[in-house]
Amino acid sequence: MSNAATSSVIVITGASSGIGEATARLFAREGWWVVLAARRRERLEALARDLETLGVRVLPVPTDVTRWEDAESLARTTWEAFGRVDVLFNNAGFIQLDWFEAMDPHADIARQVLVNLLGTMWVTRAFLPGMMRQGFGHIVNMASVAGHIAPPTYSVYAATKFGVRGFSEGLRRDVALHNIRVSVISPGGVETDFVKDAKSPLRQLKMDGTETLTLTPEQVARAVWGLVRRPRRERVIPGLYRPLIWLNRAFPALTDFISRRLLRRLGRGPGGMHAK
Ligand SMILES: NC(=O)c1ccc[n+]([C@@H]2O[C@H](COP(=O)([O-])OP(=O)(O)OC[C@H]3O[C@@H](n4cnc5c(N)ncnc54)[C@H](OP(=O)(O)O)[C@@H]3O)[C@@H](O)[C@H]2O)c1
Repeated sequence: MSNAATSSVIVITGASSGIGEATARLFAREGWWVVLAARRRERLEALARDLETLGVRVLPVPTDVTRWEDAESLARTTWEAFGRVDVLFNNAGFIQLDWFEAMDPHADIARQVLVNLLGTMWVTRAFLPGMMRQGFGHIVNMASVAGHIAPPTYSVYAATKFGVRGFSEGLRRDVALHNIRVSVISPGGVETDFVKDAKSPLRQLKMDGTETLTLTPEQVARAVWGLVRRPRRERVIPGLYRPLIWLNRAFPALTDFISRRLLRRLGRGPGGMHAK
């Protein structure tokens, strides 16, 4: 069989579960060829077998986005196998919530920056020259509502997602004359293992994010599909977060006030039960 793809091709990082897996399923149902990247090889291979029953070609590529060699090899393997990349979905990420002074410098702080921000940049850096050569492409970067509003305990995670948005804005302007589009998707809480598995000091108040998991991974996948069909700079879902984002930007003192009330309810502060 010729290697040149006869269908459109999407590369998805973080494809082994949650939003990445749901997006892979949706694009495969639409007839796209799919490249699956994440660390858990068995999950990628099982998903690939499943998607191939839809009659599309699927390439599972075990990848750690924090390793430049892996990012390079993902891009090389993709072009060798399929010869084109229509969409790169930088979706791999993880979250670790805590008071900043309690965070481990490596496992909590550096790791989130490496996976969520540096990983997005490295995978993009690995694919961009090929997209420029082929003369088209669309990069969709996963941010979050936390890339607009940083609640207490979200300092590092929010910094990575604010970073993803800043990176995407600069990149979009870098490639504006190359027929390459750059979009950001910023969901609120999504029902995946991601938030449920994250330990959070806010859990005792039922305010750790799990109570606002209003989206399914399939809904986010449909939003990604919508972005690809009708490219936009950013999509925030659900849309009800848009006025909240505006409020936080226009009146940050209001969010600060709500945060202080929350901290008092938790007994945090000098001499409080959470004082370290
Ligand atoms: N769930 C939410 O409420 C929510 C809200 C807004 C934004 N998001 C964003 O959505 C994205 C996907 O999260 P999810 O909710 O679908 O959670 P998930 O099911 O935990 O998916 C995270 C994915 O990232 C992959 N990953 C983690 N570290 C990696 C690494 N070093 N290299 C390559 N892949 C890595 C994981 O695969 P392996 O473990 O196999 O590597 C997994 O496939 C994340 O960027 C997250 O920040 C989530």
